Amino acid sequence: MLRIGVLTSGGDAPGMNAAIRAVVRAGIFRGSTVFGIRRGFLGLMAGDIVPMDVGSVADIIYRGGTALLTGRSDEFKSGEGRQRAMNALQDFGIDGLVVIGGDGSVRGCRELARGGIRVVAIPGTIDNDVPCSELSIGFDTAVNTICYAVDKIRDTAEALERTFVVEVMGRDTGFLALASGLAVGAESILLPEVPTDLDEVCLRLRRSRARSKRHSIVILAEGVGSAYDIARQITERTGFPMRIIILGHIQRGGAPTALDRNLASRLGAGAVETLLAGRHGKLLGLNGGCLQETDLEVALESRKGLNLAEYELVKTLSI
Ligand code: F6P
Repeated sequence: MLRIGVLTSGGDAPGMNAAIRAVVRAGIFRGSTVFGIRRGFLGLMAGDIVPMDVGSVADIIYRGGTALLTGRSDEFKSGEGRQRAMNALQDFGIDGLVVIGGDGSVRGCRELARGGIRVVAIPGTIDNDVPCSELSIGFDTAVNTICYAVDKIRDTAEALERTFVVEVMGRDTGFLALASGLAVGAESILLPEVPTDLDEVCLRLRRSRARSKRHSIVILAEGVGSAYDIARQITERTGFPMRIIILGHIQRGGAPTALDRNLASRLGAGAVETLLAGRHGKLLGLNGGCLQETDLEVALESRKGLNLAEYELVKTLSI
């Protein structure tokens, strides 16, 4: 039996609610007491902590956002802020913590673990950039949202024979751009991990036109630079008028896909099992379809790489 705290941190991601539900229900099922910490590490430092019962997580599995709210906190990065957070955990007698969040939140967990807190992190971010896990909660939903939007954009692009630059999120990584670019049949994808070659993009656009395909979609990862700049440069080189779409926060909202709900349910319940088994200071991720624990120290030494074969595939399929 433990007293388990759960929080969501950083950018919200569809499926976080399913993960909260799994932590609460699996914890109660195993005889633990579960507390929800509101607004991520901000709420932890402020002691904004509430007991959770079975009913408190009813009807949230299908909702985007996070019922516990989330937050980004610079204060938590300071030793003083973290000490306040650790004091709050002690005041509430919380002896195991589950954190659902992205790369920055996992770093926060490592600092707590170094301070002696029993913590397990699970990856929740649409960016899918958390190392040592091939998937993070929210990524699949965001890729589907991008597909849904770009399919509509393609209708009008085709009708008016236009080229669109569609900017997607991902911070400084291109996981979202690559997965969605492959899924929508993008004519070009620009990723932070691959040096930008606008000559090649322009060549591909001209080649499309030469074979009478007069509309195109260029997927741009936000980490590459401004969509307006890229579009302007393409127009200067080709003379093609461009339209620009910045998909923005729509990518973070909406009901989670079944894949995200199931992933979140497995990770949330898995994190409880990890804590109850006496293991902590871990990142719990998904690899080869199985849950896998990695020491936070080890996980944060590695950087997750993009599958460049997929990038080549996009190019092959959009000749
Ligand atoms: O980390 C998730 C994410 O949506 C990134 O893709 C994006 O760069 C960032 O958060 C946007 O953050 P905010 O909502 O704080 O502007």
